Amino acid sequence: MSAKEQWATRVGLVLAMAGNAVGLGNFLRFPAQAAQNGGGTFLIPYLISFALMGIPLLWVEWAIGRHGGIYGHHSTPGMFHVMGDKGWLKYIGVFGIFTNLTIAAYYCYIESWTLSYVFHSLIGTFAQTEPKVFFPNYLGETADSLFAFPLEAGCWFLLTLALNIWILSKGLAKGIEMAAKIGMPLLVIFAAVLVVRGLMLDAGDPGVVQSPLDGLNFVWNPKLEGLTQPTTWLAAAGQIFFTLSLGMGAIHCYASYVSKRSDIALNAASAGWMNEFVEVVLGGSLLIPIATAYMGLAAVQSATAGGGGFSLGFLSLPTLFNNWGWFAPIAGALWFGLLFFAGITSSLAMGQPIMAYFQDEHQMNRRNSALIFGASTMILGLFCVWLYPGGAFDEFDFWSGTFSLVIFALLEVFIFSYVFGIDKGWKEITRGADIHVPRIFRFIIKYVTPVFILVVFIGALIQPAEGNWAQAFRSLFSGDGWPLAANSVIGKLFHVGVDSAWFTPEGRGTKVLVQDMTRLLLFSLFAGIAVMVYFDFRKKGGSR
Ligand code: TRP
Ligand code: TRP
Repeated sequence: MSAKEQWATRVGLVLAMAGNAVGLGNFLRFPAQAAQNGGGTFLIPYLISFALMGIPLLWVEWAIGRHGGIYGHHSTPGMFHVMGDKGWLKYIGVFGIFTNLTIAAYYCYIESWTLSYVFHSLIGTFAQTEPKVFFPNYLGETADSLFAFPLEAGCWFLLTLALNIWILSKGLAKGIEMAAKIGMPLLVIFAAVLVVRGLMLDAGDPGVVQSPLDGLNFVWNPKLEGLTQPTTWLAAAGQIFFTLSLGMGAIHCYASYVSKRSDIALNAASAGWMNEFVEVVLGGSLLIPIATAYMGLAAVQSATAGGGGFSLGFLSLPTLFNNWGWFAPIAGALWFGLLFFAGITSSLAMGQPIMAYFQDEHQMNRRNSALIFGASTMILGLFCVWLYPGGAFDEFDFWSGTFSLVIFALLEVFIFSYVFGIDKGWKEITRGADIHVPRIFRFIIKYVTPVFILVVFIGALIQPAEGNWAQAFRSLFSGDGWPLAANSVIGKLFHVGVDSAWFTPEGRGTKVLVQDMTRLLLFSLFAGIAVMVYFDFRKKGGSR
């Protein structure tokens, strides 16, 4: 095995962990989720999810990671293997490989858009071509084709991957840590410049229709109504998972390079709070307020309901920046540059667990394991690129980026408290701690967090039509059955509310065909990784 790698400095570790969490989700997904769920109504369920689920899971994942690292395991199959003497434990770790790999595939594609948009902002493309026209062209979308073969987007994608592989192959301290030390401060500076410029807009400026403060107020003014809306809770909890990179095996991996007696309690909390600062304060003050100033709040809300954060971030903002005269290309470069830094420090965190698996279990060196990650991400990523119009990308985002995290997190809190044991678990969390972890969290981890996740999970499975739970129960009790929402997990699985034919009468493939093929691919991949784990651990027998 290669010599054990270590983080160079504590600041570097916390920045790398914050970089892991701070990503495209903070600037695109959060504002879109907040807007879709009524702005301030989203905030309270979001913050409660952070306290009851986010923070406890951060501690659990750091603890599992550092514990695994002590036994020389830096990816989840090995880490779970050493949490007890049950043979099945290692298969739980399959999630930690599968999720990172499949998220990386589509996430690096978004990341490559941001890099290309930095370039196009600087050369003034958006002053000539409307982003509304540019973006679909760039993605290679043509009227009702399921396929796209975009040459330029493909090249930027490969370039982005190459950059990731290059940084990863330089190693933990010289690659990942360095990238975080450069990327994170720049990201915060870029964001701060744009926030200040955006909030200075007022009614007299050309093109401004509403005060940006109305947008800020919309996101930030907490309203109690959200508390009684299960759908808002689902969205809030889902965002907490995604933004903190929970339930993915990425945090475990970074934490496994922390030494046995070093603090994790304070480090985990610091990285978590840093992410929340960037998400709520910076992420909440950019997209929505600036868009509100030029489009009006109502238009912003309807834009997020349709295209989500992508439409505001990649279509609206570059257009709006044109109102800023000579500053427009710079504003564009700052906005897409900060997205790029946010993205790359996250995609590196998706790569390291895959590399660590091959380094630990196949004695592979850094360069070769980085190449394996790159090659598999490229193949899966090109599938997303070429079948983007058919909806492959969205399937990846849903099954890997939304659904599987919840299952993994549910299994891991359960295993942590009841297989590993909460007594040992609590000792793991608090060993070397530089803060006093309130004892109430022992109770929360053991009882509250699992129940919370379970409720979210069941809610997502059977979410009723229009998110109307009261109506759904009335329907159930009056014998009319449960009205499943098309976007509930079961609804998606069985294509509720859509024609589920694979081919049109003329014999052309449908989106449902692409969706089902994508699911088959994802499922086979999961099974394939499980088989690999089986063979790799067979020689180890039951020994730790
Ligand atoms: N947390 C990241 C964001 O907010 C996204 C992310 C998803 C991620 N899965 C991950 C980061 C796995 C690192 C590892 O954009
Ligand atoms: N696609 C969604 C939107 O446009 C949000 C989203 C889902 C997202 N997954 C993401 C944003 C990953 C950034 C990164 O609103």
